Amino acid sequence: MGVLIPIGSGKGGVGKTVFTANLGAVLASYGKTVVLVDLDLGGANLHTCLGVRNKHPGVGSIVWKKEKRLENLVVPTGIDRLFLVPGDNLLPGTANLDFFTKRRIMKELLELTADYVLLDLGAGASYNVIDFWLMAPDSVVVTAPEIPAVLNAYSFLKTAAFRLLFRSFGKGSAERERIVEFVVNRTEGQGDTFLAFAEGLAREDAERGGTKGAKALEELGRLRPRVVVNMGNGQDDATIAQRLREISARNLGIGMEYISYIMRDPYVSASVSDRAPLAVTAPEASFVRGVRAAADRIARAPSAPAPGLELDDEDLFSMIEKAFDEDGSPTL
Ligand SMILES: Nc1ncnc2c1ncn2[C@@H]1O[C@H](COP(=O)(O)OP(=O)(O)OP(=O)(O)O)[C@@H](O)[C@H]1O
Ligand SMILES: [Mg+2]
Repeated sequence: MGVLIPIGSGKGGVGKTVFTANLGAVLASYGKTVVLVDLDLGGANLHTCLGVRNKHPGVGSIVWKKEKRLENLVVPTGIDRLFLVPGDNLLPGTANLDFFTKRRIMKELLELTADYVLLDLGAGASYNVIDFWLMAPDSVVVTAPEIPAVLNAYSFLKTAAFRLLFRSFGKGSAERERIVEFVVNRTEGQGDTFLAFAEGLAREDAERGGTKGAKALEELGRLRPRVVVNMGNGQDDATIAQRLREISARNLGIGMEYISYIMRDPYVSASVSDRAPLAVTAPEASFVRGVRAAADRIARAPSAPAPGLELDDEDLFSMIEKAFDEDGSPTL
């Protein structure tokens, strides 16, 4: 198994797919074998950035049980050492994957043979997307520097933190119920932060002789998202990126690593009609320089073990919806 790098974003259209394609091309140019997996089911378009024709069976074949092995879906991209597992647009989207299929895809991802396996996830923080994103403690979040995109990046991280905490305890546990209760009753800006809540939960668990709370805090402490700021404009971007770092540290206890700042670059949209990544057609473009900065950091980093989390079919969000329904409050 190679190094797994899931790539997500709170907001759509911030450049995850072009970033993934180009990061793959750069890592491949460093002599690494890279498999890109299009997990944006329902909105799969990674193949277009690579100039691969949309005629190969993709991840949908696993979903429809036509194919068991993800490795049988790997196709060449025309770029040395860079391979693709296409997505499928006939699927209703990653958000709708059932638990067994998700677990099967996760297992298959871990069995792909490559130096790097990059996952292009769908936008947003649906719990299936978050579960793929949580497969590594140092997954990538792409954001644009504008306030709405950064707020979405923050809520993506917050959802991931809650999901990690939730998955640290067993199905049907009292702790999971407490987490739901906390989310339902909390008004933003009031009461405990997520971090204080998680610490309280761990303390109570320890008093009862449990170890899952302490383990959850340890996993939270190991989360170190790699943030890419894409479509930069220069001026005030650093201030807003700094704000994201501060509120994530204070409220969630999550530290992050900014691995690249990429400028808005008119060559990027032009490259889509080239049907080849800019890293191949214009290696000196400013976009590619930014991607290379990220690739260099990734190539230097030691690989981190995946979080040891429980995986089952219990879903925080539907439990929250249920709690709202029972209250007679409006459904989320
Ligand atoms: N640095 C950049 N400069 C200019 N244009 C960019 C840059 N990065 C991405 N784009 C353009 O932004 C658009 C969205 O990019 P992309 O499809 O990669 O985003 P995405 O996050 O994958 O979107 P989705 O959430 O829909 O999957 C594309 O037209 C792409 O060419
Ligand atoms: Mg995309």
